[in-house]
Amino acid sequence: MKVFFVTGGAGFIGSAFVHLVLRERQDVSIIDFDALTYAGNLENLKDADPARHRFVRGDIRDKEAVLSALPDGADAIFNFAAESHVDRSITSASEFVTTNVLGTQVLLDCVRAKNVGRFVQVSTDEVMGSLPEDDSAFFLEDSPLQPNSPYAASKAAAEHFVRAARETFGLDTVITRCGNNYGPRQFPEKLIPLMIANAMRNEPLPVYGDGMNVRDWIFVDDHARAILAAYECGVSGSHYNVGARNERRNIEVVRSILDALGKPHSLIRYVQDRLGHDRRYAIDATLVENELGWKPATTWEDGLAATIDWYRNNQDWVEHIRNGAYREYYREMYAEKLGN
Ligand code: NAD
Ligand code: TYD
Repeated sequence: MKVFFVTGGAGFIGSAFVHLVLRERQDVSIIDFDALTYAGNLENLKDADPARHRFVRGDIRDKEAVLSALPDGADAIFNFAAESHVDRSITSASEFVTTNVLGTQVLLDCVRAKNVGRFVQVSTDEVMGSLPEDDSAFFLEDSPLQPNSPYAASKAAAEHFVRAARETFGLDTVITRCGNNYGPRQFPEKLIPLMIANAMRNEPLPVYGDGMNVRDWIFVDDHARAILAAYECGVSGSHYNVGARNERRNIEVVRSILDALGKPHSLIRYVQDRLGHDRRYAIDATLVENELGWKPATTWEDGLAATIDWYRNNQDWVEHIRNGAYREYYREMYAEKLGN
C-alpha cells in the first residue's frame, strides 16, 4: 500500500481529492490531517472508507503533531491546508501568514525528517496577480509572481519556501496553480455556493463592483485529477498551471445560477467593490495538458448543474454551516454592503 498524507482533507478541494483517490487508486491509503477550522467539515468525509482513510485532527503549524501523525517513508504529502478566502485575508492577514507560510515550512521540515517521497503544494493562479481584460493575455508557467491580496501573497511566499527546500535540500517537490474551483461541498463564503445558498432562500445576491471581473472556473474533481497527475507524472521541481479554459464574468455566473433555480434577476444587488479586486484570471493550460496528459472532463454547463443539484439536495449541509459561526461572518462582511 502507498501512503498519502493529505493536509486540509476536510475542506472543499481536499475532500474531493480524498474521494477521488479512494475511488480510483485501490493501492493507496490516506492519512487525512486537518485542524477543522471554520472551513473544515467532517461531513465532507462521511463516505470515506475507514479501511483506507484515517482522519487525524491536527494543525500544520504544530511540528510535533505533524511528526507524530506522519509515517516514516510516506509516499507523498499533498498540502491543501490553508486559509483560502481573499475577503477574510483583507480583514485580517495573520492567520494566512501562519498557516499558509509557516505551516508549509513545517511540512517541508517534516518531509526531510521522515523521508517523504514527494511534496505536492496546492497553490493558486492568484499568485500571478491580475491580467488585463484583453483576451490575449494568459497566465503561463513563467509569468511573474505578483500577488495582490494578502491571501495570494501568503500562497506566493509558500511557493518560495517549497522552491528553497528543493534547491537547498534536494526535496522532490511539485506545485500546482489552479484557477477558481466550484462544485459540491464548497464553503458558502465563495462566490458560487454563496449565490446558490442566497438564491435558494430568496435573499439578495451581493455582486462586487460592476460584476465584470473575470474568473477561470474549473470543476473541483478535474482539479483533483490534475493534482494526482502532478504527483504521478509531474517533473520534479516543476509547477503546473491548471485550468479548464472557462473564463466567465461574475455577473454571468450569478445570472446563470438564478436562471437555473428559476429565481428573478431582481435578487442581484451591486455592492461596494472588494479592495484590490483582481480584474481577470485566465490560465493557459498547455503544459499540464501536454506534459501530464490531463484534460478537464466536466463542461461548465454540466458542472454548474451538478453543483446546484448538490446544494439543492444537501440543504442540511448548508444549514449546519449557516447556523454556526458563519452567521456572524456574514453579518460582518455584508451588513454594511447590503445596507441592513
Ligand atoms: P477550504 O478553505 O475549503 O479548506 C481548507 C482546509 O484546510 C479546511 O479543512 C481547514 O480545516 C484546513 N486547515 C486550515 N488551516 C489549517 C491548519 N493550520 N492546519 C491544518 N488544517 C488546516 O479550502 P479549499 O478551497 O479546499 O482550498 C484548498 C487548497 O487549494 C488551498 O491551499 C487553496 O489555496 C488552494 N486553491 C483553492 C482554490 C479554490 O478555488 N478554492 C483554487 C486554487 C487553489
Ligand atoms: P471568490 O469566490 O471569493 O474567489 P476569488 O476571490 O479567490 O477569485 O470570488 C470570486 C469572484 O466573485 C471575485 O471576483 C469576487 C466576486 N464576489 C462577489 O462579487 N460577491 C461575493 O459575495 C463574493 C464572495 C465574491
